[in-house]
Amino acid sequence: MTPLLADRVAIVTGAGKGLGRAHALALARYGAKVVVNDLDTHAANTVCAEIKSTGGEALAHCANVQDLPRVEAMVSETIARWGRVDILVNNAGILRDKTFAKIDLADFRLVLDVHLMGSVHCTHAVWSHMRERGYGRIIFTTSSSGLYGNFGQSAYSAAKMGLVGLMQTLALEGARYGIHVNCLAPSAATQMTDSLFTPEDLAALAPDHVSPAVVALASAHAPNKQIVLAGAGSFEQAHVTMTQGAVLGDQADTAESILANWRRIGERVNEVVPATGFEQYQHEIARARAHSLEKK
Ligand SMILES: NC(=O)c1ccc[n+]([C@@H]2O[C@H](COP(=O)([O-])OP(=O)(O)OC[C@H]3O[C@@H](n4cnc5c(N)ncnc54)[C@H](O)[C@@H]3O)[C@@H](O)[C@H]2O)c1
Repeated sequence: MTPLLADRVAIVTGAGKGLGRAHALALARYGAKVVVNDLDTHAANTVCAEIKSTGGEALAHCANVQDLPRVEAMVSETIARWGRVDILVNNAGILRDKTFAKIDLADFRLVLDVHLMGSVHCTHAVWSHMRERGYGRIIFTTSSSGLYGNFGQSAYSAAKMGLVGLMQTLALEGARYGIHVNCLAPSAATQMTDSLFTPEDLAALAPDHVSPAVVALASAHAPNKQIVLAGAGSFEQAHVTMTQGAVLGDQADTAESILANWRRIGERVNEVVPATGFEQYQHEIARARAHSLEKK
C-alpha cells in the first residue's frame, strides 16, 4: 500500500527535540521527505540521521524561526532540493513562565515573537508557493494554556491563542487554493513539561502518542479549520462557539439587564460554531429583527 504521505515534502520547526522530533520521525515513517529545523544544529542533525538510518530522506536546517530571511532561505533550499513544500508543521517554541505581575515585557515579546511571529514567518514563506501549486497542509501548535488559560503563562497563552486566530482566517483564505490549515494542542512530556508529572504519567505522555494527529492533519484527507487536541493516545476537538444569547434592547438600563441575564446569555443549548466572524453580525441582526417583530 502507498504510504499516506508518499512523495510529500514537509518542514517541521523545532524538530530537534520533544514533539517536533516525534512529528518529523512520524512524517518520515509515512513517506514524507522532512526538513528537520531547529536552532540546535546538533539536535537537528541527530534527528536527520535517525530518519536516514531507517531509509527516509531528511535535511537539517538551523534557521531561527524569528529570522525571516533565514526562514525564506530554508524554504528556497527545500524547493531547490525536493521541488516543493507540501506540509508545514509550526512547532518551535519556548517558555518564559512568570505571573503577569512579574513578567519582564522583553520576555513577553520574545514568547510572542517565537511562537506567533515565528509561525507567521514560516507560513508566509510557504504561502504563495502552496497557493501556486494548489496544495498545502499547515499545522499551528497551539496549547491548552491558550485555549483555557494557565496560571503564570500570560505571554504563552496570548501567543498560542493568537495562533488559533491566525488559523481561523488562513483556513478561509487558503481553502480555495487547496491549503488546509489546522491547530494542534498537544499534551506531552518533554523538556518543557517534565517537571509537572509523575513517572507513570510521563510514560503515558510520550510525544509519539501525539504525532499521529500531525500525520492525519498533514495528509490529503486533512480537515480544515479545526483545533485538534492530542495526548496519551487520546484525541479531542476544541471549538470557539457562540450561544444563541438574548436580545436585551438598547435602553439606559441594558448593563443592569446584562448582569441579570448572564445565565440566559450564556445558555449553551443550540450554541453554534460560526463559519466566519461575519456570522456574529448576521446572528445579532436576525435576533434583533425577530425581537422587534415580536414586540409589534
Ligand atoms: N509539551 C507539551 O505538553 C506541550 C503542550 C502544549 C503545547 N506545546 C507546544 O508544542 C511545541 C513543542 O514543544 P516541546 O514540548 O516539544 O518543546 P521542546 O522544548 O522539547 O522543543 C522545542 C524545540 O524548539 C526549538 N526552538 C526553540 N526556539 C526556536 C526557534 N526560534 N527557532 C527554531 N527552533 C526553535 C528548540 O531548540 C527545541 O528543540 C511548542 O510550540 C510548545 O509550545 C507543548
